[in-house]
Amino acid sequence: MLEIKNLAMAFETERGLVRAVNKVDLSVAEGEVMGIVGESGCGKSVTLLNILGLVPHPGKVLSGEIMFQGEDLLKKSKKEMRDIRGKDIAMIFQDPMTTLNPVFRIGEQIRESMRIHGLFKDVKGGFFKSARKHAEKDRAVELMEEVGIPSPETRYHNFPHEFSGGMQQRALIAIGLSCKPKLLLADEPTTALDVTIQAQILALMQKINQEHGAGIILVTHDLGVAAEFCHKIAVMYAGRIVEQGRTEQVMDNPHHPYTQGLLRSIPKMSSKKDRIEPIPGGVPDLAELKEECAFYPRCAKAHDKCLSQEVPMFDAGEGHTVRCYLYG
Ligand SMILES: Nc1ncnc2c1ncn2[C@@H]1O[C@H](COP(=O)(O)OP(=O)(O)OP(=O)(O)O)[C@@H](O)[C@H]1O
Ligand SMILES: [Mg+2]
Repeated sequence: MLEIKNLAMAFETERGLVRAVNKVDLSVAEGEVMGIVGESGCGKSVTLLNILGLVPHPGKVLSGEIMFQGEDLLKKSKKEMRDIRGKDIAMIFQDPMTTLNPVFRIGEQIRESMRIHGLFKDVKGGFFKSARKHAEKDRAVELMEEVGIPSPETRYHNFPHEFSGGMQQRALIAIGLSCKPKLLLADEPTTALDVTIQAQILALMQKINQEHGAGIILVTHDLGVAAEFCHKIAVMYAGRIVEQGRTEQVMDNPHHPYTQGLLRSIPKMSSKKDRIEPIPGGVPDLAELKEECAFYPRCAKAHDKCLSQEVPMFDAGEGHTVRCYLYG
């Protein structure tokens, strides 16, 4: 359904070109959940913004294609992308309050999304388009119920500040679902929520995936969440995908030293003796990236070859790929 090929984009800043996304290949099949994990600043959010055509100035696409249902999204006009956003591709962000409009009632905001995309445009009759409004309202209440907002008839008339964080996120998901999107992009959708609410929201997204068959890309810091929820995982480092495969391949048998480091840095409940092992050093400055392996300075297994040239993606078998000479 979605196939990103060789995508490269950069921000033209005073410090030089910040290569936020570097030759990324990524694909999501219908009904598939793809997780993108990696440290802060490695290009996860920007990758999603590229799919939506929402990369902020001074960002520029340098190369690649983003094929969605057979058409390249990078070749679409602003207007065409506006139609696709929300209708075919929906998005859920980390902080619902930055997306919900504080001065409109929740129900109206769900309705608005259906109105913009003309979901009930064929419903005619009555004065002041009231038949269409009723159809939209009924659907909005139904959606609120579906995402687990209690007493949706009453809550329809609430303003966002009258909702808790978890309920706001549910409202956003209802907006996202209102046009039955084929692809849902979720950028850290549960990071701002406590763990019980987080589990409920993830279960809700799982239901959407299973019942509506929507493909999902989930960006998360939380490897546990990714392991539980995703069919496939892509690990990003400094704008590049360094490892990709089915969840059990990446989690049970991580190949790239960076993935191995990420997994070692998760606290475990079972083994009290084991200390958390952080990966030494930090993410490099993306403005100073060369072709060589960006993880080199932090890697215990690095050798000269890693510095000499660009590391290609190697096939580790059965669709498991890794960008590291250890497997070349
Ligand atoms: N508007 C911008 N102008 C310049 N650089 C930007 C801009 N937006 C993002 N970047 C740079 O692009 C890189 C990737 O950012 P991105 O937000 O995708 O990271 P991320 O992986 O989502 O991190 P986090 O986990 O913290 O959300 C970062 O180095 C960031 O500084
Ligand atoms: Mg981000």
